Amino acid sequence: MVKNNGNQLELTDFSVETEVFRRDVIAGLSADRKTLPSKYLYDKRGSELFDAICEAKDYYPTRTEVGIMRRNAAEMADAIGAGAVVIEYGSGSSMKTPLLLEPLEKPAAYVPVDISREHLVEAAERISARFQDLPIMPVCADFTRPFELPEALDSDAPRMAYFPGSTIGNFTPTQARSLLQNMYDETNGGSALLGVDLKKDVAVLERAYDDSEGVTAEFNINLLEHINRELNADFDLETFEHRAVFNEELSRVEMHLVSRVRQVVTIGGTSFSFDAGETIHTENSHKYTPTSFARLAASAGWKVDRIWTDDRDYFSIQLLVADR
Ligand code: AVI
Repeated sequence: MVKNNGNQLELTDFSVETEVFRRDVIAGLSADRKTLPSKYLYDKRGSELFDAICEAKDYYPTRTEVGIMRRNAAEMADAIGAGAVVIEYGSGSSMKTPLLLEPLEKPAAYVPVDISREHLVEAAERISARFQDLPIMPVCADFTRPFELPEALDSDAPRMAYFPGSTIGNFTPTQARSLLQNMYDETNGGSALLGVDLKKDVAVLERAYDDSEGVTAEFNINLLEHINRELNADFDLETFEHRAVFNEELSRVEMHLVSRVRQVVTIGGTSFSFDAGETIHTENSHKYTPTSFARLAASAGWKVDRIWTDDRDYFSIQLLVADR
């Protein structure tokens, strides 16, 4: 909505991104089991809320992963070896990167890869100021698809894919396998250091994705606000509630938005009916055991070389090497 001297002007936006967003939303809500792509959770407000989730008391992954990195930095650096090119997938604001670059012996270059140009440039500048002798070669790309690496990269230097945060869990096993295969190709069968969240007590998992401060609920509901704002929709936010449930069979936490009532919602003129209790599936977060992750990695040509975990075995950082 644009305001002009108190009048409300409605902007109809046909930019390519908006059209793709509209198409994805209409397709997702037209399915028998309604769904929305999780990437649309991350508008400006959604990204701020995600940062707040990482600080929430019940959301253990971020602080557990950082603890593992801090405690094992020297050992990790040793296992990775000297002179590596570090390619970070979905680097965002590169918050965890110094934890890896600091202990590494003479890294050859840092290549952050992210779709958001703004985040990428800002983060690259920050890392460059901190690691002044390190060549930084940002790549603006969708890391879920194969991308070209900068030509200036030393082709003889060993390459390592860095993918912290357990974002691998937000992909289905099929998508995760294809991403791991791309990493294999992009590192020339080098190595990969990944954050992988582990399967654990269901109550702990469900609390982490429905935290007692209500931040995750707000994050999920914000998706409807994002759709209202950009696609001229009329979701009544009060009539939807957040639900996080562990799906034992698929070993994943699922986030849903549940319609409290029977209702009709319109999105730019297209109507969608909801029964009371009907849900929109908005995100998956797969949880692995060391064995199930090793199987997934092997299907993409990798072998697990080392695993670092915390005292409770809540989270793991895994070093993969080519399985030949
Ligand atoms: C980004 N990703 C690793 C988070 C996760 O834990 O799956 C996203 C998230 N969704 C709700 N809370 C956190």
